[in-house]
Order: sequence, then structure tokens, then C-alpha cells
Amino acid sequence: MTQVTTSDVNRLRLDFLNVRNTTSIIFEPISIEDAVMQSDPFGSTPNWHIAHVTWFFQKILEKYKQNIGADSINTDYLNSYYQRYRKILPKSERGKFPRPKVSETLKYRSLIEEMFLKFLDNIERNNSLTRNLVYDIELANQHEMQHQELLIYDLQHYFQRFDDAEDNYHPKINKRPNSIDNPVVEQGMVKIPGGLYELGFSRSDFCYDNEVPEHKTYLNAYEIDTYPVTNKQFMAFIDAGGYEDYRFWLSDGWDIVNEKKWDSPLYWQKMEGYWYKKDFGGLNKISPDEPATNVSYYEADAYSKWAGKRLPTEAEWEKAASWNEDLKKKTNYPWGDELPSDHNANMLESWNWAPCQIGSYPQGKSYYGCQQMLGDVWEWTSSEYVLYPGFRSKFSEYTDKWAINQKVLRGGSFATPRSQIRNSYRNYFKPHERIPFSGFRCVRDLL
Ligand SMILES: [Fe+2]
Repeated sequence: MTQVTTSDVNRLRLDFLNVRNTTSIIFEPISIEDAVMQSDPFGSTPNWHIAHVTWFFQKILEKYKQNIGADSINTDYLNSYYQRYRKILPKSERGKFPRPKVSETLKYRSLIEEMFLKFLDNIERNNSLTRNLVYDIELANQHEMQHQELLIYDLQHYFQRFDDAEDNYHPKINKRPNSIDNPVVEQGMVKIPGGLYELGFSRSDFCYDNEVPEHKTYLNAYEIDTYPVTNKQFMAFIDAGGYEDYRFWLSDGWDIVNEKKWDSPLYWQKMEGYWYKKDFGGLNKISPDEPATNVSYYEADAYSKWAGKRLPTEAEWEKAASWNEDLKKKTNYPWGDELPSDHNANMLESWNWAPCQIGSYPQGKSYYGCQQMLGDVWEWTSSEYVLYPGFRSKFSEYTDKWAINQKVLRGGSFATPRSQIRNSYRNYFKPHERIPFSGFRCVRDLL
């Protein structure tokens, strides 16, 4: 097996410490009472999230024959869905088993952290890092990042139920300005030429196994929205009777609209003629120029039909984000290959805790001129989540067994950690889900 260098161990150690620290920053303001509540069967308790990601590191340690020892705690409830680790507590039951207790979870986190750092020290000393081990450690870091975002979905879902606007999650770091000046934007579409496009991750650093192999796909010419669809645009769909007209809806979506009485995105409530939402900024009027979020695939698809457009395939989305016609190559982010920062995208470490108005990140635009493709809101695509031709699993049961009945979302949200996202990243949810921070932008065929 190919050896990798000790500088990789340093990087992995730093990434590990960073990701653990960010989780602590998110978890710290949560009281014990709130930490053991499961708000919805879709989600988990905050306590479970932070214990489960630690359990995942434990599994990596065990895979490499590290003895966890008698000090460890009962981790029976922490297996999410891995059949190979046998006993699984059904997801919907997590809130009924607040074990380990919060204090035990925090002790468990420290214990495994210490062991993991020792493990990394030994690898460094023995110069025994392998490519497979690098992947497993990066996977465990990335896994914890995914749970940071899931935890934030759960906090939004849980706290919005309390009528008192102040009874809320109060983030330890909150950089969201009180008022934002309306950036002047032109909400058009940009043209993307057709032809062969190589879909997938093209670099040698970390990506999930479901982002490769790259493979050719043919695209007809199309145009794509410069920005994600905004709340104001979505309100026009509502005002036009979009939720009451079967012609815009897929059959399954129409059934849910009627059964659940959907008339707006999740969390919206109408008071005295205005739409409001309680989120991490309190109870406020819906901000018209922010990307619409917490919509299901069905709502995104219905809006697109109403607007005379359609949702992009994931290849169309990725080409609009990645392809640079001058360089004749793909970039890792819409703006190029530099890592995300405050200048180009609204992500977790921006600590805005909400999508930003369209036009807020002109420096983050893609070669073709699309803006806010990364950060703010995940964007539904019309593509089914299937594994790419030639797929080879690098960690069984992580990405592979979910390739059924789910739609691909691209681009990350305001709650996605910066080190997690890139143009080729594929998220996936069932089409009725509205708890993720999911929005969309539309395309139109150029015939
Ligand atoms: Fe997990």
C-alpha cells in the first residue's frame, strides 16, 4: 500500500481538532433539557448527534485494532444504521433513550478524543499512514461535519415550536447583521452551451466515493437562473394559487399537499396578512430577497412548472458551477480553486445562521455568472440519487445503500461547514423532506 507523508498526519490532526471544536461551539448553548429532545422522527437529539459522531471515531479506532478499554461507556444506542455493527436503535426511537446521559457523552467525547490523538501520534512516530487510513480519518471528520449541519436542522425544527420568540437557540457566535442593505441585483438567467461534460470530482484530494468516477454525459444547451429562487418569487407562486392547482404537481406531491394541508414552505406562518417565520434570528417577517428554503422537491418542481421552467439535472447544475471555458477545465468551487471564505459564500463558519439576500456574494460567482451556488441553501436537482457508473464503495453502508428513492441536492447551505462542500458534492434526501435547508434554482432548455 502506498505510504503517505507525516505532513498528512499533521493536517488530519488539525482537521480533527477543528471539527471537534466546531461541534462544541454549536452544542455549548444547548441546555440539558433541550439536548435530549428529539423534535421529529427525521432528526435526532443533540446529545445523540455528538455521541454518535464520537462512536464513529471509535469504530475507526477499532478497525485499526486500537483497544478502547474498560473505561468506555455503553454505546448500544449510538449505531445509526450500520447493519454490520449489529444492534440498531430505530431512528424514530432516539429521543426515548437519552443514553449515554449528557455528562457521560461529554466524558466519552474527551476519552475518544484523547485516544484518537494518541493514535495519530503513533502513526506519525511509526510513519505508518496509508491511503486507506487517510480516507477513513477524513471520512470520520467529514461525518462529524455532516452531523453539525443535521444538528442545526434539528435545532431550527425544535425551537420554532415555542411561541415565545426569545425561547430560542442562541448561537455562541452570531455574526448576522441586524439589517442588511438590499444589494442591487439582476435576476436573470445565463446561457450554458451544450456538449459533452465530465460529471464528478476531478482532483486527488478528499471526496466521497459517490462523487467519482468522473464520466462523460451529454448536455443540450440550457439557461439557468443566476440566483436561487427567492422568498418573493415563491410568494408569487403562493399568491397565484400554486398550492391549489393540481396541474403543477407531481402525483405524490399533490397527495401530500392535500393530506398535510401544505400552503407554504415549512416554518412559514401567516399573521395579519404577512408571512412570518421563527428562526435563529427570532420571529420575523419573511425576508423577500433571501433564497427560499425548507421546501420539498415537490414544491420546487411545482414552482418550476408554474414558472415555465424546470429543475436542473445534477450535471446541468455542476457544469454551471464548475466549467471554465477559458481554462478548459473544471474548478472545485464556482469562483475557482481557493477555499471558501467570508468573501465568496455563506456557510457555517460565516455564522450568519440564515441564508443571505441574493447579490450578497458577487465574488462567489461561477464562470458563467451564477451566484450563491455554494452556501445559503441546498439546491434540489431533478436527478435521482444513483451511484455513478464504475462506483466502488470506500466505506460500506455510508453512501452506497441509500441510492434509491432519493433526489440529489447540490451546493450546501448556510449550515454546511466550509471544509465539507465543493462543486461535485452530492447530498440526497427523499422528495417530501422539508427539514433540510433546501431551496432551488431553475433551468430552461435552449432549443
Ligand atoms: Fe452518522
